Amino acid sequence: MFYRRISEDLQVALTLPQHAEALFDLTDRNRTYLKAWLPWLDATKSASDTKRFIESNLESFAKGTALNEVLLYQGSIAGVLGFNEIDTFNGIGQVGYWLGEAYTRRGLMTVAVADLIQLGFQDLRLQRVEIRCATENWRSRAIPERLGFQHEGTLRNVERVGQRLHSHAVYGLLRSEFQAKD
Ligand SMILES: CC(C)(COP(=O)(O)OP(=O)(O)OC[C@H]1O[C@@H](n2cnc3c(N)ncnc32)[C@H](O)[C@@H]1OP(=O)(O)O)[C@@H](O)C(=O)NCCC(=O)NCCS
Repeated sequence: MFYRRISEDLQVALTLPQHAEALFDLTDRNRTYLKAWLPWLDATKSASDTKRFIESNLESFAKGTALNEVLLYQGSIAGVLGFNEIDTFNGIGQVGYWLGEAYTRRGLMTVAVADLIQLGFQDLRLQRVEIRCATENWRSRAIPERLGFQHEGTLRNVERVGQRLHSHAVYGLLRSEFQAKD
């Protein structure tokens, strides 16, 4: 099984159908918290919805076009991260992530995204990693900023979440910049 140890307390694992119940449970407990920034909460009503999402992600993983991980903190699922899309022709990975509120403010996602980036450049041979965050989502934006991404610009009114239209801050990190940081 695909599994990476980040520290004694923190691991990431390829998201599998076996994670559906626990992942749905975390989603359901954090609905209100996540709804401000993520558009798919209303469509996720049961563990079978989560299982379908995982299965579809695994199909993309098999084609090399996505990679979804669960973040395990002290053995429990704390959140999700991954390359939501991998453009194999151009070597670009689009990162997405979320945490259960109880697991925030400890630096867990920043270190997990750093590990994902390393995997992307070294194992998946990406040449660019991209993170798009709603311009007002300062906690999300802090992650690429901490990890040395360049803020490359803003896409205006690109995502509807509930009643609101969000603009996206686009952050990019190139393989050459990642290597230069070592
Ligand atoms: C985006 C999200 C994952 C960020 O969570 P987070 O807890 O701020 O991120 P991290 O786990 O990296 O933790 C960073 C916090 O831990 C602190 N921290 C402690 N130790 C740290 C360490 N070793 N390294 C980095 N940060 C550390 C940081 O100071 C920061 O806290 P602060 O905001 O009070 O300064 C979370 O807000 C979330 O899930 N939001 C809802 C969904 C969402 O917006 N997803 C992104 C869509 S683009």
